[in-house]
Parts: sequence; structure tokens; C-alpha cells
Amino acid sequence: MTALFSSTLQIDNLLAALQADEACWINKIEHFDEINSTNTYLMQHESPLHGRVCVADHQTQGRGRQGKQWLSKTGNSLMFSLGYTPKNRLGAQLSLVVGLAIADVLRDLGVAELGLKWPNDVLVNHKKVAGILIESRYVGKQAECVIGVGLNIDFTPAQLAEISRPCISLAQLDIKQISKQSLLIQIIRSICKRLAQFQKKGFASIRLDWLAYHVYINRQVHYEQDGETRLGRIVDLGKKGELMLEHDGKIHQVTSGEINTIRGVS
Ligand code: BTN
Repeated sequence: MTALFSSTLQIDNLLAALQADEACWINKIEHFDEINSTNTYLMQHESPLHGRVCVADHQTQGRGRQGKQWLSKTGNSLMFSLGYTPKNRLGAQLSLVVGLAIADVLRDLGVAELGLKWPNDVLVNHKKVAGILIESRYVGKQAECVIGVGLNIDFTPAQLAEISRPCISLAQLDIKQISKQSLLIQIIRSICKRLAQFQKKGFASIRLDWLAYHVYINRQVHYEQDGETRLGRIVDLGKKGELMLEHDGKIHQVTSGEINTIRGVS
């Protein structure tokens, strides 16, 4: 069954639908047919950012983590950024919470073989379906975060081949039919809900749910940080969302960087 992801967004209805849910703290949505980057737009926007959403059909300078580009063509992705003011210091936790919120929605759509790769890739059958870019700035002592989400909706084989790592899009999967509008509503609601849970009960209340999706527990991985690559084995996710990585006979707590699997090693 092919999902109806190609339908256009109706922004007025979108805000009303989000605000009808009292757990959802969104107060403004802006939509652009084309923009440089929804993250850049919000990062340059005046305060307060909390509750503002920027959605675009196309980004000319979409950005991924670690200075990478985020490629999209009009209509093939769901791309938005959301302003969020955290109550305390977060480290990798915010990425983990947002990744889990997206995975929750995809699971409800019937997506099988779902996985989360620390800190923030959403995978289907080990191929990336969504990425998250979190940026922050300070207003006085208060951090303001921009949570950017890019979800692959309907990529052609040629578009998937342009991307340097294995990716997949939702239209390739046999899942429940849903409009782009409903998908966006469900994802934003899910992010609001998981962030509220996180603020109220802490990361400990999220950790086991996240671990249920964790794809590389007990696997050997390459861990990259500050230009250095190390070989290690992921042994756990710590109480604060840090990756527990064993290498050189010791357990290290990793709070930033990137992990990659090693072909042929399980
Ligand atoms: C990654 O996996 O590297 C993160 C990708 C994040 C892409 C989204 S698309 C919406 C928002 N605007 C951007 O420029 N980037 C994020």
C-alpha cells in the first residue's frame, strides 16, 4: 500500500490541530515553499523561540550534523525546526528524546525494523530514515534550542544514491496511509509529549524505551570524536544518555561524537 505523503500542508489547520492537544506547547507555525534552512531561520530569529515551528518544502542549504549537507528535493522530505527552551543542561539527552518521539510515531504507522543509532539517527533496517540537528544559543544564562528534523518521505532511487550513507524513505515501506499534514502533526505532538515527560520525570523515565530501539548494543563500532577514530564495543546507555563504550579494557562514558558500525563485525 502506498502512503499519501505527497499532499500539501495547510498551516492554519495545522496550528489548530496541534493546539487542540493540551499537552502540545506550540504557539506559532511558519511555512516556506523554499528557505535556506529551517534551523538557520530559527537560530537567527529573535527570542523567545520556545514553541515556534518553521516548516519548509525545500531547503537550499539544509544542514546535517558535523557540518554535513542535508539534501532534499521539493516534496521528498518532511523538514521542520522547533524552538525549545530547556529547564536544565541536556548533553546528548535532547537528541535521544526527539529520536525516540519520532520512532514512536513510525512504530504506530507500522514501520518494522525500526532502530535508533546514538545519538540521533532513526533507522529502518539499518538505513537512515530521519536525522536530527540540535543547535543552541544563549540569551543571558538561558539556553534556547532549535530542534531540526528531516524525515525521508519519498526519495527516488537516484536521489537515495546521491547520499553518502545508506538511506531509505517511507514511501518504500509497506505502512499505514497518512497525509503529510497528519504525519507532521503526529511527530510534533509526539516530540511535545516526550519532552514534557523528560522535563517532568527526567531521562531515567525515557532510557528503557530508547534502549528498546538501540541497534548497536554489544556491537563493535568505530567511534569518532575530534578527528580521532577508535574501535570499541557499545555496552550500555548510561543514566544521563551517555554511551558506555568499552575500549582498551576500560568502560568510557561518551557524551558527544559519532559512531559507525564495522562491516562484517557483529
Ligand atoms: C543529520 O542527521 O545529520 C541531521 C539532519 C537534520 C536535517 C534537518 S532538515 C530541517 C532542519 N534544517 C536543517 O538545515 N537541518 C535540519
